[in-house]
This record gives sequence, C-alpha cells and structure tokens, in this order.
Amino acid sequence: MKNWIKIEFPGTSVNVGFARAAIAHFAAQLDITLDELEDIKVAVSEAVSNCVVHGYREKSGNVVVEASYEGPRLEIIVEDFGHGIPDIATAQETGYTTLPEERMGLGLTFMGECMDELRLYSEVNVGTKVVMVKNIPERQLG
Ligand SMILES: Nc1ncnc2c1ncn2[C@@H]1O[C@H](COP(=O)(O)OP(=O)(O)O)[C@@H](O)[C@H]1O
Ligand SMILES: [Mg+2]
Repeated sequence: MKNWIKIEFPGTSVNVGFARAAIAHFAAQLDITLDELEDIKVAVSEAVSNCVVHGYREKSGNVVVEASYEGPRLEIIVEDFGHGIPDIATAQETGYTTLPEERMGLGLTFMGECMDELRLYSEVNVGTKVVMVKNIPERQLG
C-alpha cells in the first residue's frame, strides 16, 4: 500500500529540526534500521537547510516536504521557491559552496551518500526541488 505525507512551512532555520523529526517519524513506519534512519535525518536536514540558507538567502518563502513509500522504496521531495541554482553540476561538486565563509559545500555530497538516488531540479528565480530515494529492504525478524 502506498502511504504519503506532505508538509509546508516557512523556510526558517527553526523548522529544519521539525522537518527532520517529522520525516524520521514517517520513515519509522517502515522496517527501518537506526543507521538508515540516521541517513534520512542527515539528508532531510541538509536539503531543508539548503532551502533556508541558499534558496531564501535574501527573500522568504515556504518549503514543501513530501515523503511517500510503496513497498521498499521511500521517496522524499524537498522543494523551495527561492533563488534556484544556475549550474547544478557545479553545485554538486564536493566542497563547492557559494557561501565559503560559513559553509563547507558538503551537503549535496552527504545527501548523495545517505540516499540511493538523488535528483536535483532547479531554475534560477523559480526554485529548487530535490528528489531523494532510499530503498528500505524488508527484513526477516528473528
Ligand atoms: N535549495 C537551494 N537553492 C539555491 N541554491 C542551492 C540550494 N541547494 C544548494 N544550492 C547551491 O549549491 C551549493 C552547494 O550546496 P551544498 O553541497 O549543500 O553546500 P553548502 O550548503 O555547504 O554550500 C550551495 O552553496 C548553493 O550555491
Ligand atoms: Mg548545504
């Protein structure tokens, strides 16, 4: 059976932890390990932080987070309607950041490592959408 949730909130740093916890609780309905749950928390935190820090750098707006699962496939979508990314390939390079004074440029790399699939869609002055998938295999309980 497919199950899903969708949450929308202002893109402010206080809501990063809320989104991480909300998606972790949703994912916990699956037969998930603590390591997998930790991966999901990291990926959601990084994705939502990027919306707040980069997407809404000099403007404000909402973040939409959707999560769904069907069978072992957990999909998480994080979207903002902010600045957008002019060059997605460059943004994904490890260590690349447009805020070198305060950021490390590792968020997208972490998201890729924590999840099985990572896809980025972005348009300048329209917004950015990150689609992430993690496969949570069914486990035989002993
Ligand atoms: N939601 C977003 N909106 C606008 N730009 C983004 C967004 N997410 C990522 N970026 C761009 O991609 C770069 C790399 O992101 P990331 O790997 O998370 O590193 P960091 O956040 O440390 O800069 C950012 O510096 C920013 O320029
Ligand atoms: Mg980041």
